[in-house]
Amino acid sequence: MATRKIAVIVGSLRKESFNRKVAKTLALLAPPTLELEIVEIGQLALYNQDDDPSPPATYLEFREKIKQFDGVLFCTPEYNRSVPAALKNAIDVGSRPYGQSAWNGKPCGVVSVSPGATGGFGANHHLRQMLVFLNMPAMQQPEAYLGHIGDQFDGDNLTNDRTRSFLQNYIDAFATWVERHAD
Ligand SMILES: Cc1cc2nc3c(=O)[nH]c(=O)nc-3n(C[C@H](O)[C@H](O)[C@H](O)COP(=O)(O)O)c2cc1C
Repeated sequence: MATRKIAVIVGSLRKESFNRKVAKTLALLAPPTLELEIVEIGQLALYNQDDDPSPPATYLEFREKIKQFDGVLFCTPEYNRSVPAALKNAIDVGSRPYGQSAWNGKPCGVVSVSPGATGGFGANHHLRQMLVFLNMPAMQQPEAYLGHIGDQFDGDNLTNDRTRSFLQNYIDAFATWVERHAD
């Protein structure tokens, strides 16, 4: 079976981000058929449609990079019951020019992560609304709302065995999902 390349988009710019730690854990747990790579979004200036005729180089690089992947895995915090602006911005940048979206057709997964009890449910589903328009087949099950994440890491090392086992199951299911939707 071919190895599928997955772009991991982390919705937090914070150095010690729990979402980044979860993303790195998923990369370690991924089966050999999946290769996960975090694609950075913090360098992308706020999208302004006026710049469409001559977009910043960072936009062009980001769009070309995303196009090289077979699928996308989003790991997002919840900010005020929605996705952080940095993630929305990256999605907008990748979606343009109209009709040439870098996201189009790529199978994807959504993982939301929070120290709070609700596991970023609001962000997870606001993101899913965007994915419908972007024509990205999003894995439905298992859903991933990781709550109470604040005390589950020692550095980058996930210390909670139940969460590890959940993430293993998640990434295995995602590998199957990507395979089903790959070209
Ligand atoms: C502007 C802002 C809004 C937030 N709103 C929420 C929220 O709606 N729900 C929630 O569970 N946590 C909320 N939080 C707390 C984040 O879940 C927490 O900061 C988390 O660690 C961010 O993810 P990260 O560790 O990957 O950076 C908010 C944090 C910030 C800075």
